[in-house]
Amino acid sequence: MNFKVATWAECVHCGRRYDLDEMRYNCECGGILDIRRDLDAIDGAALKRTWEERWGLKRGALASGVWRYKELILDLPDDRIITRQEGNTRMYEAGLAGKYAGLKNFLLKHEGENPTGSFKDRGMTCGTTAAMMYHASSVACASTGNTSASMASYAAIAGLKSVIFIPEGKIAYGKLAQALAFGGKTLQIEGNFDDAMALVQDVCRELNIYLLNSINPFRIEGQKAIGFEVLQQLDWQVPDWFVIPGGNLGNNSALSKGMQELYQLGIIDKIPRIAVIQAAGADPLYKMWKNHTPFAPVKDPETIATAIKIGNPVSWEKSLRGLEWCHGVVEEVTEQEIMDAKAMVDAAGIGAEPASCCSVAGAKKLVDAGVIDPEASVVGILTGNVLKDPDAVIGYHKDELQHMGIRGTYANRPILIKPTVAAVRRALGC
Ligand code: F0G
Repeated sequence: MNFKVATWAECVHCGRRYDLDEMRYNCECGGILDIRRDLDAIDGAALKRTWEERWGLKRGALASGVWRYKELILDLPDDRIITRQEGNTRMYEAGLAGKYAGLKNFLLKHEGENPTGSFKDRGMTCGTTAAMMYHASSVACASTGNTSASMASYAAIAGLKSVIFIPEGKIAYGKLAQALAFGGKTLQIEGNFDDAMALVQDVCRELNIYLLNSINPFRIEGQKAIGFEVLQQLDWQVPDWFVIPGGNLGNNSALSKGMQELYQLGIIDKIPRIAVIQAAGADPLYKMWKNHTPFAPVKDPETIATAIKIGNPVSWEKSLRGLEWCHGVVEEVTEQEIMDAKAMVDAAGIGAEPASCCSVAGAKKLVDAGVIDPEASVVGILTGNVLKDPDAVIGYHKDELQHMGIRGTYANRPILIKPTVAAVRRALGC
């Protein structure tokens, strides 16, 4: 394949390089792959000018908040790009959630404002474009819900068949609904996400289906655009911290890889620190980082944040590499901390799904622990839309999650009343 700048796949573990003509996700040694390009052949200052010129484009592939940065994503002609003009998501003052976290300068980048309601669209636009580049006819993924919703949508647009492996009964309803609506062949497997992830890799190999989990390095390339767009929205002022949830650990790997590339190109001259936040019941990276122990999967991961209910994340090695580069940290948060932080994000008028709110719960914990300075500039990534998981919202506000050990601390209970003005008065206390 011919790109303007030399581009190849490279093993994270042993450094072996592969030509992109060869379609693969793993190295001979079993390590996972990165997409690398000859950054020395790119003029950083000129690239930044090009990206600024594209800001606010009204139509076409380059109006996408991913493909605006295509020189560092996948440099194909525009007519080969499968896009829903993803990205271009808003960044909010955290308001109530900022006060809750104890931060004065806290912005929330809302990736739940992507076309299918999660950050996955940024990776998926690139992944499906790569699928077309390899002349695939079918694509597949294992998913806790958002990846499958996104893949089904992009596959439909590209005219690809999509096959989805989800853990039975364990994904949020909004996500399952999307997968079915967009026409994904949905296989609910007996087992958890980790079982589904193992199975889909075998299936893709055996049945010659293109794999679109974040083990696919093109997915990671697309997701780098979250960080690029945050910086462009901040006029290239680098925040002190990014705080981001971690499940399969692709997204934080993408964030650090993107920052590293911008740094190498001289587009930024400060390295932001990254805090990865895991749910306490699904925390293999946290355990490893905290205890300085080798990677060990968590056997039966459990959390209300079903998006990140993952015990054996495929990208832990990339994640750790990124954290080392940026002097990052890993934190874990309890179920109660996740849902209380979510109540604050929601009450702030912003709203996000449970996994996303690990960003706020984790920021608060790190401020309380003195790791993040209350004066620091912090960008929290909200990864998914509030509507993805209505059951979690309603369960919390009706205080019906006690069987999971979660109290409705900030519950806003719905009130059943007779249809009379007197009853309304009583309910409103006036
Ligand atoms: N937040 C949300 C809303 C997610 O859906 C996911 C991952 C994450 C955070 C974690 O990102 O895996 O890159 O560390 N969801 C995947 C899925 C696993 O199948 O939708 P990660």
